[in-house]
Amino acid sequence: MKEEIEQILAEIQALKCQTEKEVEEARVRLLGKKGEITRLFDEFRTISPEMKREFGQRLNVLKKEAMAKIDELRSSAVSAPAASETAFDPTMPGDPMPLGSRHPVSIARQEIVNIFRKFGYDVAEGPEIEDDYHVFEALNFPPNHPARDMQDTFFVSTGHVNPLLLRTHTSSVQVRAMETMKLPIRVICPGRVFRNEAISARAHCIFHQVEGLYIDENVTFADLKQAILLFAREMFGPDTQIRMRPSYFPFTEPSAEVDVSCNICHGKGCNICKGTGWLEILGCGMVDPNVLEASGIDSKKYSGFAFGMGIERIAMLKWQVNDLRHYFENDMRFLREFSSCVEG
Ligand code: PHE
Repeated sequence: MKEEIEQILAEIQALKCQTEKEVEEARVRLLGKKGEITRLFDEFRTISPEMKREFGQRLNVLKKEAMAKIDELRSSAVSAPAASETAFDPTMPGDPMPLGSRHPVSIARQEIVNIFRKFGYDVAEGPEIEDDYHVFEALNFPPNHPARDMQDTFFVSTGHVNPLLLRTHTSSVQVRAMETMKLPIRVICPGRVFRNEAISARAHCIFHQVEGLYIDENVTFADLKQAILLFAREMFGPDTQIRMRPSYFPFTEPSAEVDVSCNICHGKGCNICKGTGWLEILGCGMVDPNVLEASGIDSKKYSGFAFGMGIERIAMLKWQVNDLRHYFENDMRFLREFSSCVEG
């Protein structure tokens, strides 16, 4: 027994383990239920009482040594895998980083901007918190004009001559363009607008518009019609037809609303175009001489056209989205459908 104890002690001193698994195997081999040291303790019970004292001590020392060695090996084995983690293994598959994608409203906006850029339009922006003058007054909506009710306004401050409000349309930017830019002006103004509307599948209190403005000598309604037709064909396909219906806006005269032929049923009639074969896309008209004069432009010499469209509406028609609220709810299942869309 004495030799056996010596032998196991030597074995313990020489013991080397790298992984936690190896340490555990060594522990079971020495101290487990059927381990060598456990077996010696069992044998110890059978030896003569006069030898017990000596061997008892030796066995206790052996057990302590074994336990201490196992603890020591375990603590160094724990840090081992951490060290190997830092080693770079080029054969491991990569850890893919989820890529975000552009919002459909941004994609549609960029597509509209790109089309008009090709036609030579500049891009202008203006403030979202505007004054009454730029949203209404300069656009031929005098105070108490009934057309102000066409757009339910969020006021930021009231009680003075020129209250601040959240712009209800991007036409305010055409006023700023006329005030600051040199003639001729050819500009589009994309931006966010606000109206106090109940939220539904077809209306929201926040949405986006693109305004267009072209002012030069001898600009006619025929130019407007051609610009809109070219835009519609770039946006919805080369076979697209347009039609104009008379309408009213205080800042344009004459005014029109424009429909495009339904790109889903190609004019035959479906539930998207409600059986008519046509879809409304924008409002437009020749800039009213009063509006030109209010911004210091000589209406005898210059004429121009303006148009305004809702970006969400264009996007809904292009991608057949049937509920406006999808654009604002940040549902990833909806947004992911546009991850492969690249604007033209
Ligand atoms: N501003 C109008 C609207 O929001 C659209 C429009 C713009 C109409 C320019 C005519 C000319 O409804």
